[in-house]
Amino acid sequence: MEKYILSFDQGTTSSRAILFNQQGNPVSIAQKEFTQLFPQPGWVEHDAMEIWSSQITVAAEAIVKAGLGGKEIAAIGITNQRETTIVWDKTTGEPVYNAIVWQDRRTTGYCDQLKAEGLDTLIQEKTGLIIDAYFSATKIKWILDNVPGAREKALAGQLAFGTVDSWLIWKLTGGQSHLTDVTNASRTMLYNIHQLTWDKQLLEIFDIPENMLPEVKASSEIMAKTTGQFLNAKIPIAGIAGDQQAALFGQMCTKVGMVKNTYGTGCFMLMNIGDQPIVSKNNLVTTIAWKINDQVHYALEGSIFIGGAVVQWLRDGLGLIKDSSEIESLAEKVSDNGGVYMVPAFAGLGAPHWNQHARGTVVGLTRGTTDAHLARAALESIAYQTWDILKAMEADSGVEIKELRVDGGATANDLLMQFQADILQCKVVRPELTELTAIGAAYLAGLAVGFWNSVDEIQEYWKVNRYFNPENQNTGELIKNWHRAVKSAIAWADD
Ligand code: G3P
Repeated sequence: MEKYILSFDQGTTSSRAILFNQQGNPVSIAQKEFTQLFPQPGWVEHDAMEIWSSQITVAAEAIVKAGLGGKEIAAIGITNQRETTIVWDKTTGEPVYNAIVWQDRRTTGYCDQLKAEGLDTLIQEKTGLIIDAYFSATKIKWILDNVPGAREKALAGQLAFGTVDSWLIWKLTGGQSHLTDVTNASRTMLYNIHQLTWDKQLLEIFDIPENMLPEVKASSEIMAKTTGQFLNAKIPIAGIAGDQQAALFGQMCTKVGMVKNTYGTGCFMLMNIGDQPIVSKNNLVTTIAWKINDQVHYALEGSIFIGGAVVQWLRDGLGLIKDSSEIESLAEKVSDNGGVYMVPAFAGLGAPHWNQHARGTVVGLTRGTTDAHLARAALESIAYQTWDILKAMEADSGVEIKELRVDGGATANDLLMQFQADILQCKVVRPELTELTAIGAAYLAGLAVGFWNSVDEIQEYWKVNRYFNPENQNTGELIKNWHRAVKSAIAWADD
């Protein structure tokens, strides 16, 4: 009987399920968008039950579409939006509050306080992270401090915390397994990435009881089995990775110095730095890339909070386009940005600026500015933000980046990819398969159950669709003006 790997790709705006065959090809895909909740300016929440229901629905749909049953699934791999924080009652399985999404800024003030207390270095040394509302720790604390009765229950051992992977596994195993993997743990700001343990000192600082935390597993091992309710089969859950680490693996950036950039809601550039964590001096974060066969690999990461989401904003917020794919033709109506620069700091600025207070800014408007200029400025902002990260990464690693592997929805946009190559002055490589996040999780699961035997074997499945080589050398002025615009976005917030 031919078998398949089922990948759960639980992202910020949609839940997806993809079935992969032995050749690493997707044979069936199902996807469902779910509700984004914005209860207050700067707050972003998801209904954790809807995350679960949408994910399980698409998984069943993908299987039915392919005409398969549970017995044909060799393993499940899970990849997920990272940092998003869910706290639930271990007895009832009910979340005590909505999932607080990674983009949520409600704990900005508390983060400022931690910085004022001079905790930056300690936290960076232990976790590889920069103090920011982005990561899970301050979100957990917020729930414990603000949801009536939560802290008492947590102290009594009745509550569980998890990132989305943990939550899905809890549900898939009928509450039997409370676990996560090293990559997700490394995004909580509570995990010591050197010792590979939850850090007691940090738990004390954030006032979070250790009994809430999941057990931390490798990224590729049989960690649990489904209850049998799902597809009438007990399927091994054998791979977990945060979505950006999964994409790094899916892109087969398995050697030191290899870099990928994923253009999703945000943009996340990761460089494989091998088995030693480099502490960034240029405002990047150090994170765990994966743990396979007891070997940990680390990555340097530059996290851009708004990437493809700027196109969604043009569509939903401004109504300039009806469908995201229209942005390319709109931007192509003009040959340049007409002096317009857009800094999409809608959720503050992530790496390398880390300004929680910055807000979106458009500069350079004139009477001649059209919707096409705005579309172009929006697209260009994605490429400029990537330039900032690439330069920080080169400085930290001492490696000159000659090739950038790209994936995610926005990479279908040739105009953006060419502009990206021009701005970076480096080769941009778009692979054939665009589902790199999902296949990364599938590979991790498939390796654990012997569906694939080695990384060398799966390496073969990564194929190039198109190279974008730099064509325009005269981009210095654009980059200079971009930085002037960023200054405005920060000055607006700091004033
Ligand atoms: O760190 C946040 C990241 O994991 C979100 O990824 O693809 O859902 O935008 P995505």
